[in-house]
Amino acid sequence: MHSLVTKRRIINNSMTLTCLCLTHSLAQTHKTPHFTTFSCNPLFHIFSVSNPIPYPIKSMFFSVIFAFLCRILFQGILRPRIQPFSTNFRSAPTPSSLPQSMANFDADSVTYLTQPEAAEIDETLMGPLGFSVDQLMELAGLSVAASISEVYKSSEYNRVLTICGPGNNGGDGLVAARHLHHFGYKPFVCYPKRTPKALYAGLVTQLEALSIPFLSVEELPTDLSNDFDILIDAMFGFSFHGSPRPPFDDLIQRLVSLHSHNQIGQKRSVIVSVDIPSGWHVEEGDIDVTGIKPDMLVSLTAPKLGAKKFGGPHHFLGGRFVPPAIAEKYKLILPPYPGTSMCVRIGKPPQVDISALRENYISPEFLEDQVEADPINQFRKWFDDALAAGLKEPNAMALSTVGKDGKPSSRMVLLKGLENDGFVWYTNYESRKGHELSENPRAALLFYWDGLNRQVRVEGPVQKVSDEESEQYFHSRPRGSQIGAIVSKQSTVVPGRHVLYREYKELEQKYADGSLIPKPKNWGGYRLTPQLFEFWQGQKSRLHDRLQYTPHEINGQRQWKVERLAP
Ligand SMILES: Cc1cc2nc3c(=O)[nH]c(=O)nc-3n(C[C@H](O)[C@H](O)[C@H](O)COP(=O)(O)O)c2cc1C
Repeated sequence: MHSLVTKRRIINNSMTLTCLCLTHSLAQTHKTPHFTTFSCNPLFHIFSVSNPIPYPIKSMFFSVIFAFLCRILFQGILRPRIQPFSTNFRSAPTPSSLPQSMANFDADSVTYLTQPEAAEIDETLMGPLGFSVDQLMELAGLSVAASISEVYKSSEYNRVLTICGPGNNGGDGLVAARHLHHFGYKPFVCYPKRTPKALYAGLVTQLEALSIPFLSVEELPTDLSNDFDILIDAMFGFSFHGSPRPPFDDLIQRLVSLHSHNQIGQKRSVIVSVDIPSGWHVEEGDIDVTGIKPDMLVSLTAPKLGAKKFGGPHHFLGGRFVPPAIAEKYKLILPPYPGTSMCVRIGKPPQVDISALRENYISPEFLEDQVEADPINQFRKWFDDALAAGLKEPNAMALSTVGKDGKPSSRMVLLKGLENDGFVWYTNYESRKGHELSENPRAALLFYWDGLNRQVRVEGPVQKVSDEESEQYFHSRPRGSQIGAIVSKQSTVVPGRHVLYREYKELEQKYADGSLIPKPKNWGGYRLTPQLFEFWQGQKSRLHDRLQYTPHEINGQRQWKVERLAP
């Protein structure tokens, strides 16, 4: 990160004294006196015990007095510049202004930091809040890599050049390069002014151990777009002042010049700046509008004022480590991070032309001689792959039905079983799909597993599952879902949410004693017996694999025939 480590050391050293003292509780626990560390940091009172060493009690008594005086002195006179926080961080209140979910988050309300605020927050993180520079750098670099992988898929943007400066911003870049390697990218690093500190040397060693090439400035091609898909600008962070010196002035110019290439229609590499584009003023941005124009900016901890001038399509926030005490003190309004993500988009995603959305799929070939003879087994294999890939709700499927009016309709449902060679889902028998299935008991299912570039189509006749099966499944659901199924007269018009809520509350009270909630008669499962499967896997240049299974009678035996369809 961007804090000045030396500053941190001065603060800590000035506030912490190691003294000999004997605490009351320690004296009770240990029969002999002990050396004890007493921190005079007014924000923390740390007592730790080392090996017992005999020592004259009298001398220790004076030590206690001395330590006590030190503490008063530091608290009363040399109060540190940083205001004390609650040491009970877990119970520190979340400001009411902080959004709890992305849904109610107003993108225009994001807090932008001045340079001194950003510096003070870093000092606080690395001082009283107990972070080390290594930790913050690791999380910052990971956030940068995560943001890149959100937008620029490694299948299309594989070759990444990280240009690292001599300071913490450069360290963030080194860490990002390592994570990008593990995410499937091919990183290169240009690190012309190496910092002779163990932290940076360690980061270099880690990259070398992954055989990530280090390129000198002289080795870089004149036109970076020829050799790289992504250029990470990790030269200077928010603590940088003045004009960039060689070789960074030239490197910055090379990034600037890429835009003129773009204007004449050539494909160019995308530029990702870490925290603040190098050469920009931290608070005023690209003052004379001649600086780098990144496509992506990854602000760390919170965006700096200069980031308001960022005009590219992808502004992300990273550095998911801000504790509530800091958010409270600086009245930070930041978007909530979704799930387990290390980054979150700030502002609106760019407006895109839907017709231009195009993914170049790269998957292993899917060949006839590799597939299972039984499509159910093939389906199970792919379903297991989707599970192993950690895809969200791989059992979600689009169900299409057609009533007697001949008008098709689709909706998502969840696959709940694959028994007796049939695909089972549960729903309300009086819903629209229920009516359509009673009129025309045939359906089509569609699974799409993004990330694996796969879809599966399944078609066939549909029957209700036995009442026992439905009963069993109904009672396996959470009680809230059971009540919800009673309340919802699915697909009928309701005057408002309050009606559903009122009925839900009434039933919740009725069954508050834990008694059995009866399954509504109109709720249950359907089973589709497949008569056609198609396994689709995306491939380069639209030459996708499509293997279709249809049943055939051979010598009185039902078998599946596999045929390739044109993509
Ligand atoms: C991911 C997902 C899973 C769903 N799973 C089910 C389900 O298993 N059963 C169900 O009745 N509705 C499910 N729904 C809601 C349906 O899509 C649909 O709104 C509802 O069944 C009414 O459809 P209909 O009016 O066409 O009958 C799901 C919706 C989504 C987005």
